[in-house]
Amino acid sequence: MDSFQYRNGILFCEDVSLADIAQQVGTPFYCYSSTHLKARFRAYEKGFGNRKHLICFAVKANSNLAVLSCLASLGAGADIVSGGELYRAVKAGISPEKIVYSGVGKTEEEMAFALEQGIAMFNVESLEELKTLSKVAKGLGKKAPVAFRVNPDVDPKTHPYISTGLKKNKFGLSPEQALDAYKEAATDPNLTVVGIDCHIGSQIVEMDPFLDAFERVKNMVKKLEDMGINLSFVDIGGGLGISYKGENPPSPEEYISAVVDKAQDMPQTIVVEPGRSICGNAGVLVTKILYTKDNGEKEFYIVDAGMNDLGRPSLYDAYHEIRAVKEPSSPGTKQVDVVGPICETGDFLARDRVLPELTSGALLAVMSAGAYGFTMSSNYNSRPRVAEVMVYGDKFHVVRNRESWDDLISLEHIPQEVSC
Ligand code: LLP
Repeated sequence: MDSFQYRNGILFCEDVSLADIAQQVGTPFYCYSSTHLKARFRAYEKGFGNRKHLICFAVKANSNLAVLSCLASLGAGADIVSGGELYRAVKAGISPEKIVYSGVGKTEEEMAFALEQGIAMFNVESLEELKTLSKVAKGLGKKAPVAFRVNPDVDPKTHPYISTGLKKNKFGLSPEQALDAYKEAATDPNLTVVGIDCHIGSQIVEMDPFLDAFERVKNMVKKLEDMGINLSFVDIGGGLGISYKGENPPSPEEYISAVVDKAQDMPQTIVVEPGRSICGNAGVLVTKILYTKDNGEKEFYIVDAGMNDLGRPSLYDAYHEIRAVKEPSSPGTKQVDVVGPICETGDFLARDRVLPELTSGALLAVMSAGAYGFTMSSNYNSRPRVAEVMVYGDKFHVVRNRESWDDLISLEHIPQEVSC
């Protein structure tokens, strides 16, 4: 589905014109389609059918409260990676018993918060982490529910920065280490062993790496059963890709049905942690051309959004389609770099892109920006973070205000008692 379509020459999100939003909210802004979010979540649901499951939205992909609450209303759980994400998820109405906690560097304070909330499980990534979790649980008089993240050493065939399931990556435990860790956890009175977890990477557009990883996890589950350790949850992580530029990933439904097929003989609840595949194509970043420039060698559209607002092109050389909000009368013929106002050569949203002839003031929509867009934004160059808007049919709401210059300095202090 595409929730962003031209109507009467203007790009709409659902039934709302992006030009109207720009007029009322200013630019740049992120705009999300609630209908798209819901449809993608439901596609996962459909794949599971009657199978016992838990869909834990990966909060790191888009942590806006309105996004989380929209998914919570459909029954979503959350995959979190920090105390801050847990705080957001709970505030947005996600039940703690549907929350799984991933990440290699959980602090004691974060563990205590998660234990007090009563989350479903901690996906533990090292033996030292396990010991710390046991100590924190003991201190609180609680039993911590644990799963181990197993590193299945499967190549997800994606960008090296976002592949996580290889031996050389920092994530998880090798299957051998994990077996020892399970033995240790099973005899610890402060811990309850509840599951197993694996996550091999992100923006994966083929089925095979997922199914390979699942087979390896399934083998582990059998080995654990032989050791007398029975699990309630098998967490297959996130990672399903989306189409940025014509990629053709399996649909959530296809992907999940294939896993469910392989899990026929397994009694566990299957947990999945999708981020991008739920919200990536639900969002765009709308930006305005401030100036056009031809330096004799290259042409530029200088826009009011920069790498601090959408870091993916600079960080991963990621491709995001760019559409003019006012539908061009003829296809583009101009090759331009779309660059931001930041003082870095790496500050671009697109390079050598064929776009229509546009002038300053024109609005551009940077597509597929709903995942890892706003959440990775920063205040670099003291740029206030942009507004976020959510569309609900023919209505839109600002779901995060644009930051002000006052917001930028609100946590800072100039010490009065010292002189520089
Ligand atoms: N679970 C775990 C343990 C993860 O580390 C991740 C993503 C997910 C689930 C969700 O993966 P997804 O379904 O969104 O692929 N900033 C990068 C992506 C980093 C992904 C990190 N982990 C990007 O912009 O492409």
